[in-house]
Amino acid sequence: MGKSRSMVRRFLLVIFLQILVQAHRATSKTTTEFLFQGFNGNKSKIQLDGDSAITPNGLLRLTERKPDLAGTAFYDKPVRLLDNDSTVRSFSTSFVFVIIPSSSNNGGFGFTFTLSPTPNRPDAENAQYLGLLNEDNDGDPDNHVFAVEFDTVQGYKDSTNRIGNHIGLNFNSLSSQVQEPVAYYDKEGHKEDFQLTSGEPIQVFIDYNGPTKRLTLTVYPTRLGSKPTIPLISQRVPKLIEIVQEEMFVGFTAATGEEISSSHYVMGWSFSTGTSPATTLNISALPRPPPNTSKKARFNKEVISLVVSLTTVVTLMLVLLIVLIIYKRRLQQDDVLEDWELDHPHRFRYKDLHTATDGFNKNRIIGTGGFGTVYKGMITTSSSSSSSTSSSTSPSGEIAVKKITPNSVQGIREFVAEIESLGRLRHKNLVNLQGWCKHGNDLLLIYDYIPNGSLDSLLYSKPRISGAVLTWKARFQIAKGIASGLLYLHEEWEKIVIHRDVKPSNVLIDDQMNPRLGDFGLARLHERGSLSHTTVVVGTIGYMAPELTRNGNSSSASDVFAFGVLLLEIVSGRKPTDSGSFFLADWVMELYVSGDVLRAVDARLGSGYDEREARLAFSVGLLCCHPKRGSRPAMRMVLRYLNGDEEVPEIEVYSHSSRRYSLPDLKE
Ligand SMILES: *[C@@H]1O[C@H](CO)[C@@H](O)[C@H](O)[C@H]1NC(C)=O
Ligand SMILES: *[C@@H]1O[C@H](CO)[C@@H](O)[C@H](O)[C@H]1NC(C)=O
Ligand SMILES: *[C@@H]1O[C@H](CO)[C@@H](O)[C@H](O)[C@H]1NC(C)=O
Ligand SMILES: *[C@@H]1O[C@H](CO)[C@@H](O)[C@H](O)[C@H]1NC(C)=O
Repeated sequence: MGKSRSMVRRFLLVIFLQILVQAHRATSKTTTEFLFQGFNGNKSKIQLDGDSAITPNGLLRLTERKPDLAGTAFYDKPVRLLDNDSTVRSFSTSFVFVIIPSSSNNGGFGFTFTLSPTPNRPDAENAQYLGLLNEDNDGDPDNHVFAVEFDTVQGYKDSTNRIGNHIGLNFNSLSSQVQEPVAYYDKEGHKEDFQLTSGEPIQVFIDYNGPTKRLTLTVYPTRLGSKPTIPLISQRVPKLIEIVQEEMFVGFTAATGEEISSSHYVMGWSFSTGTSPATTLNISALPRPPPNTSKKARFNKEVISLVVSLTTVVTLMLVLLIVLIIYKRRLQQDDVLEDWELDHPHRFRYKDLHTATDGFNKNRIIGTGGFGTVYKGMITTSSSSSSSTSSSTSPSGEIAVKKITPNSVQGIREFVAEIESLGRLRHKNLVNLQGWCKHGNDLLLIYDYIPNGSLDSLLYSKPRISGAVLTWKARFQIAKGIASGLLYLHEEWEKIVIHRDVKPSNVLIDDQMNPRLGDFGLARLHERGSLSHTTVVVGTIGYMAPELTRNGNSSSASDVFAFGVLLLEIVSGRKPTDSGSFFLADWVMELYVSGDVLRAVDARLGSGYDEREARLAFSVGLLCCHPKRGSRPAMRMVLRYLNGDEEVPEIEVYSHSSRRYSLPDLKE
């Protein structure tokens, strides 16, 4: 019994399902067909949203000519557009529209004919979003929106708002997949452009053929009287199946922008699904087109482009002229002199330096740091002697130009006076200062060009020049040379010059391996240039005497300290400090105390060094590094020790830190 009852139930269920399927087939066969010869009396058939309205004389107005509007108008009943899962049903539509812009080249933004899952477009934005989509859902495949856009503004997304005049096919997005400038084909097959915003009625035919998936679009001014035979767009759009859902709404969207707006009108509309085309609109039976209130464009396109290009050319020429003038001024700037700048024999002309360094070309840079950038230059005798105010020494040949931008300009004037005297310093172990030049806020110092680079690079760079370790002979010669240069600065010249930044990178080596001390006195510019009255401690960590960090007073004794560190460095090939608490002088001192000081000699020298000279150099170095300034020897004595003219006195044991080195600390 139970078995047969369930069979009956199953049978009934099958019947019921079949009825459902048939009912579904019947409804899916339902076609839609409508014709609006104007919209008078059809208000109930059209769902209006946003700023759209039906005017008293029966025009469907999508937007007025006001800023920032968006309006939509959809046929109020859904339309079946799916035949089955894989075929979009054929449909056909025709409408007549009018766009009245503010002036014939200033309208916006346009309108669309749309297939939408909803009879309105909630959250759609105006301007380039055409009342269809918004910034967030633009391009979203879940939109299920197909639109034919009649766009009167170019430059979607780049917001350039140029005049646009095109028709595009849009799938879920405002970026058109197919885009055509607005035109029709005349009887001879010539393409004729025309403006969407002309203010005249324009008719559109859009036909989609389901089986061939081909969409054709024809657009033309109704004044032509008959539909052109060649469509503007004929395109297979298989993508439509991804858009179309079982039920879709058909209608229009339109929008205006902040600065540009048009009123968009639809005068009549017919639509049908299925293979037969939409009913032909009777143009003469449509409501009267809206009055053409657009103003005449003030300029036509040619005039505008002419004006624009002329303006551009003139502007460019003006800019060029200004640049030239500024450039010339800059070149001549050093010839516009303040009183104090006159009569300085060591002054160079900026123009000559500019030429010599190839316009301060990047590839002329031979060094940076130490207050400025250094350029290599080539100065010719003729160029310097041709200038009446330039250096009396008439230098020629290779030069190094150091470009300094001091912290403040105030210091420059005093400093130049000093430079003038520094310019008279002449010693074989100094990098001779040939002259100077003030240019704007920059101070340019001109030095002899020294070919071998700095001691720093000779001691540490890998690979070393010519691959060889700096020989002992060269090291000792360099040490004595630096001492001799410092002695000259401290004692032998008419006044005391404190170097303030003795370190390997400030020692240049010439082609005979003689050291040349550079950058002397420069630190002073830095001190003077500083704005506050607080003393700026100038120097380089590792070479600064302990009293400098306490009171900031540079003295010849602090130069001696730095020389001591440098001397130990030359012999040991080690930097004065490392990131930890290593301090070279302390380390050498401990080896010295343990009677094993020669273990501190640069291991790369092997046995290639003079033991007596090495011991001597270490002793002098340690003497110079004494924490108490009063215990350090003067440069004159240092040189006498190094030359063997005087015995090195006994060295007091000291330490700069509390750290003890685990002896011997020789790895690295
Ligand atoms: C629009 O209204 C007119 C006049 O009332 C009517 O004849 C026509 O059938 C309507 N059109 C549609 C599509 O409902
Ligand atoms: C869908 O309909 C088309 C045309 O009516 C037909 O050719 C096709 O075979 C149908 N496809 C399916 C899956 O029913
Ligand atoms: C509408 O007015 C503008 C400006 O006066 C003019 O350029 C355009 O040709 C007019 N359009 C029609 C259809 O009269
Ligand atoms: C078009 O409309 C006009 C005026 O309403 C009418 O005289 C004419 O017969 C219509 N034409 C057609 C083909 O219906």
